[in-house]
Amino acid sequence: MKIAVATIDGGAGKTAISFALAKELDYYLISNDDSVIELVYPSMAKITKDLKIIDETVYDFGGFVDAGVTDIIKHCDIVIVPCINDLNSKMKAIKTITELSKFNERFLVIATRLESEQDFNEVKASIQAKFPQIEVLPLRKTKMLKNALEFGESPLELVAQSKKIAHDGRNFIPEYKAILKYVLNNDETYEDLLKEKSAIEEK
Ligand SMILES: Nc1ncnc2c1ncn2[C@@H]1O[C@H](COP(=O)(O)OP(=O)(O)OP(=O)(O)O)[C@@H](O)[C@H]1O
Ligand SMILES: [Mg+2]
Repeated sequence: MKIAVATIDGGAGKTAISFALAKELDYYLISNDDSVIELVYPSMAKITKDLKIIDETVYDFGGFVDAGVTDIIKHCDIVIVPCINDLNSKMKAIKTITELSKFNERFLVIATRLESEQDFNEVKASIQAKFPQIEVLPLRKTKMLKNALEFGESPLELVAQSKKIAHDGRNFIPEYKAILKYVLNNDETYEDLLKEKSAIEEK
C-alpha cells in the first residue's frame, strides 16, 4: 500500500509520524521536504522533488500542494493529516483536506501532541464540523516519536527492546496501535505486524 502524510501546517508531526510508520511497516519513505530521514533510514528514505509512485511507500509531504504531490495523492490508499490543538494547525488541516479531497477520499486525522482529553475533543470537533465522515484518532504528547527518529527504530521496535521504554510508552502504544490498525485496514495484516514486532499484548 501507499500512505501519504500531509498538512500545510509546519511542525505538526508529519516527518515523525511518516518515519514511525515507514520503519514499522518496512516501507520506503519519500519526502519532498528536508529532514534527517536519509541519515536515520539509509537506503529506504529519499528526499526528492521528483516524486514517483512506488508501492510500499510512505510519502511525507511538507509545504504547499503542487502537481507532483497531487499526482501521488491520487494513488495513495490513505492520506494522514496530523493536527495539533491550536487554531492555526486546525485551520491548516482543514485547508489541506479541502484541497486534497479532490484527489483522494480516504483520510485519517491524527490529533497529535495531545496533553488532555479536551485537546482531543477540540481537534475532533473542529475537523468533524467540516468533515463529519473523517476519522480522528488521538496521539498523546510523547518522546517516543522523537526517540524513534533519533535511534532509527520504530515505536514497536523500541518498546520490544527495553522494559523501561515499554513502561514509558504504555499510554502511547495503544493509541499508536489503533492508528496502525486503521491505516492497514486489514485485521490479518495488522495481527501479522504485531507478531513480527513481538507486540502482542500479554493476557
Ligand atoms: N505526538 C508528539 N508528541 C510530542 N512531540 C511530537 C509529537 N509529534 C511530533 N512531535 C515533535 O514535534 C516536532 C515537529 O515534528 P515534525 O518535524 O515531525 O513535524 P513536520 O510536520 O514534519 O514539520 P515540517 O513541516 O517542518 O517538516 C518534532 O520535534 C517532533 O519530535
Ligand atoms: Mg517534516
